[in-house]
Amino acid sequence: MQIILNDFEEYLRVNLPTSKSFHPTFELALQDMLLAGGKRFRPMLLLSVVNALNPTMLKNAMPVALGIELLHTYSLIHDDLPAMDNADLRRGHPTLHKSFDEVTAILVGDALNTHAFYLLANSPLCSDTKIELIKVLSSDGGIDGMIIGQAIDCFFEKQKISLAELEFLHIHKTGKLIAASLKMGAIISSSKHELVNKLYDFGIKIGLLFQIQDDILDIVQDDETAGKTTNNDTFKNSFVNLLGLEVAIQKADELANICQNEISDFEEKLQINLTALLKEFLYRHQV
Ligand code: IPE
Ligand code: IPE
Ligand code: MG
Ligand code: MG
Ligand code: MG
Repeated sequence: MQIILNDFEEYLRVNLPTSKSFHPTFELALQDMLLAGGKRFRPMLLLSVVNALNPTMLKNAMPVALGIELLHTYSLIHDDLPAMDNADLRRGHPTLHKSFDEVTAILVGDALNTHAFYLLANSPLCSDTKIELIKVLSSDGGIDGMIIGQAIDCFFEKQKISLAELEFLHIHKTGKLIAASLKMGAIISSSKHELVNKLYDFGIKIGLLFQIQDDILDIVQDDETAGKTTNNDTFKNSFVNLLGLEVAIQKADELANICQNEISDFEEKLQINLTALLKEFLYRHQV
């Protein structure tokens, strides 16, 4: 898994989005948050699936993996803006609107979002596959996924929602892009519909778990350890705020166990690749 991650990091560095103009800082800002790091969880989900199902496609999958990371990074840049979560630290660095300014952060986010689809459209894959991938990323990263999740997250600040509504919120703002990453790996590998859907459903659970863990880490980690502004969910609908820390941890444990068991329902190569990646993520909340 480490080799694939290294290959992805190398690919990212060589293929950073560029913007040549007489703007003195835009190109720097465009690359800043990508170079700052991040766990690269979503591209690694996609690449793990490709590695399991059709490893000869790994190289051709790189631009798609990068596209997902670009879209995710844009969502973080916008999420940190004063109008949204108003955070100062991200990936161990000052947030983009702090290093530069709000206009730059908004426009860099817009650019990473659109460039993600540029990468998909130009990837060395057959046209039908690319159209499928664009449909998935635009839907799960867009109005039927991350965007509606973020809209609900911000609209209902300071207003309590039900547990079912909170699950909807977390599945949309975070779960769907994570599920899409697995699904896109299966699409690139020319998998049968049944497997594509099974990976997507599994991804929704992994994604919900990921956001419950994130809610827990907001409380139990400091800024330095998390590399981002923590203790920032005071007015949010989070699992910790709705259920309390102990029950939230219990819920995360339960879901992590369910996910761990579900891995064994996949064929052997997927089991091996998913286990190698997910071992670092399933129990991330147990710090
Ligand atoms: C943070 O995502 C935002 C959430 C959806 C919880 P990550 O925890 O994957 O952030 P990076 O990419 O590693 O910085
Ligand atoms: C953000 O959720 C989800 C996104 C779509 C970016 P959070 O607001 O909880 O993420 P962090 O804690 O700032 O990384
Ligand atoms: Mg947020
Ligand atoms: Mg946030
Ligand atoms: Mg959070």
